[in-house]
Amino acid sequence: MLAIGVVCGAITAAIAVFIPWLPEEGAKEAGPIDDVYWVVTIISIVIFALVAGVSIYSVFKFRAAPDDEEDGAPIHGNTRLEIAWTAVPTALVTAIAVYSGIVLTKNERVPEGTRIVNITAQQFAWSFSYAGEKMPASGELVLPVDQPVRLVMTSKDVIHSFWVPQWRLKQDVVPGIETKLLITPDRLGTYDVVCTELCGLGHSTMRAQARVLTSSAFQAWMRARQQGASTGGASQGKALFTANCGSCHTLSDAGSTGQVGPNLDEALPGKDTAFIRESIVDPNKVIAGGYQPNVMPQNFGEMFSEAQLNGLVDYLASATSKGS
Ligand code: CUA
Repeated sequence: MLAIGVVCGAITAAIAVFIPWLPEEGAKEAGPIDDVYWVVTIISIVIFALVAGVSIYSVFKFRAAPDDEEDGAPIHGNTRLEIAWTAVPTALVTAIAVYSGIVLTKNERVPEGTRIVNITAQQFAWSFSYAGEKMPASGELVLPVDQPVRLVMTSKDVIHSFWVPQWRLKQDVVPGIETKLLITPDRLGTYDVVCTELCGLGHSTMRAQARVLTSSAFQAWMRARQQGASTGGASQGKALFTANCGSCHTLSDAGSTGQVGPNLDEALPGKDTAFIRESIVDPNKVIAGGYQPNVMPQNFGEMFSEAQLNGLVDYLASATSKGS
C-alpha cells in the first residue's frame, strides 16, 4: 500500500514541480503568494497520494472472488477513524487560513507616501489616471520599479476584473464602489493587463499594457505626457492619430490602412467637427453601417486633454476635406 501511495505522490509531485506552471514573478507581493500556493499544493499532493494508495490497495486486496455470493461483513463505523478524519482536515484548513491571512495582511500594508493610480474600467477598455498629476488619463499603466503603488479602481458599467499575471494580484472592478490593490513591481518589463471577468462581447479584447520603468525613465514619461497635454494643433493631431487610431482606421493622409473601424477617407468627408468630436468621445452614439458598437474604446475623451482632442479633431477635419 505504501509503495502505491509513494508512486502516485512522486508522479504528481514531479508534474507539479518540474513543469513551470507560473509566469515569472514581477512584484514584491508575488513571492509570498507563490509560497502559499506551493504549500497548499504540497499538502494536496500528500493527501492525494494517501487516498490513491489506500484506494488502489483496497480494490485489489478486498475484491470478491468470482464465486463469492455472500454479503459483506456488517461494519458500523469506527469512532477513532472518524475523529481523526475530522480533526486532521480541520487543523489543516485552519492553518492554511491563518497563513494566507498573514500573507494578505502583510501584502496590503500601505507605506506612507504611496503613489495612487485611479483605474477606470469600461466595456472594453482601461484608463489609468495618476492622482495629483496634471495630465490626461493614460491607456497604459506605466509604473516606476521598486516603488509601491496603490491602485484605486472603479467601473463605469459592468463588473470587470484587474489582473497582471506576473504580479499575481487580481481584483474585481465594480461599478459604484472603489476596490483597491497595493502593488510594488520589482522587475522591469512590459506585461499584459487582463480583464478576467466575463463582461460582454469584447471581454477577450479588454487588455492593456503595464510597463515598469526605471525611476528616471518614469519621470521622463510623466514630463512628456504633461507637456504633450498642453500643446495641440493639427500637426500634433496627426501624431495622435497615428499613435492611437491608425491601427484600426484607414486614413490616406496619415498613411494608415487599418480595417477594424470605418474607412475615414469615406466616412468623414462632409461631416462637421462636432460630429468628429462626438465620434471620438462617444463612439457608440452613431455606429456606421456594417460595424458593431463597443469595438472602439470609449475612453478617448479621458485619455486626451482638451488641447489634444481639439488638435485631433482639427486634423481629421482638414485631412478628410481635401479633394472633396
Ligand atoms: Cu472587462 Cu472582461
